[in-house]
Amino acid sequence: MNIITHIYFTYQLSKHIIKLEREDNMFKNINIVVGITGGIAAYKLCSLISYLKREGANVDVIMTKNACEFITPLTIETLSGNKVVSDMFEKKDYMEVEHISLAQKADLFLIAPATANIIGKVANGIADDMLSTTIMATNSKVIFAPAMNNGMYENKIVQDNIKKLKKYGYKFIDPVHGNLACGYKAVGKLADTNTIIEYIKELLEIK
Ligand SMILES: Cc1cc2nc3c(=O)[nH]c(=O)nc-3n(C[C@H](O)[C@H](O)[C@H](O)COP(=O)(O)O)c2cc1C
Repeated sequence: MNIITHIYFTYQLSKHIIKLEREDNMFKNINIVVGITGGIAAYKLCSLISYLKREGANVDVIMTKNACEFITPLTIETLSGNKVVSDMFEKKDYMEVEHISLAQKADLFLIAPATANIIGKVANGIADDMLSTTIMATNSKVIFAPAMNNGMYENKIVQDNIKKLKKYGYKFIDPVHGNLACGYKAVGKLADTNTIIEYIKELLEIK
């Protein structure tokens, strides 16, 4: 590495460290429940969860069974520092109705990536797994960050479900235009991590 390159990288690194120090513990004492569903963008939640945790949030994660096909609970447990919840009927050593305790604990609920399926289920009052049941039971603020193929996103049923949920006060971080896993360049890509963080800060009124 020549001296100019070395100075450049040192400068970039120092900017990054200063930024992290300034924002240290931004989410202290805040309980965020993240719901991950079965979309290709699930891997992007690794960096988001890691960031929230580093900034002091307690992050509990519920993964649908299909989400576990895309990323492993072990990765998410390691990044969040909490056990991932997925199975509604898992036998435990202690007595706790987990979907109710998570529903009550959450200051904020983020479902990302949100599949057409979870949006449809919640919009129609279906509670048939741990994630949909917990969303149904919570009084906290709930944000959906959808990500899907553009055909799915533009489907009138999906759009009607989104409209219905918005009417009930659920928040949405719209997907953006970009390269989709199916090979198209269209609207359906998960909003980027910074946009999601800024939205959470705004909703929680964190300066
Ligand atoms: C490779 C692959 C990628 C997928 N990506 C998405 C996606 O980005 N968005 C979506 O809504 N569904 C996607 N699906 C379909 C969902 O996994 C499927 O609808 C599933 O039932 C969702 O279940 P869940 O909402 O319980 O996680 C994908 C499926 C496969 C096999």
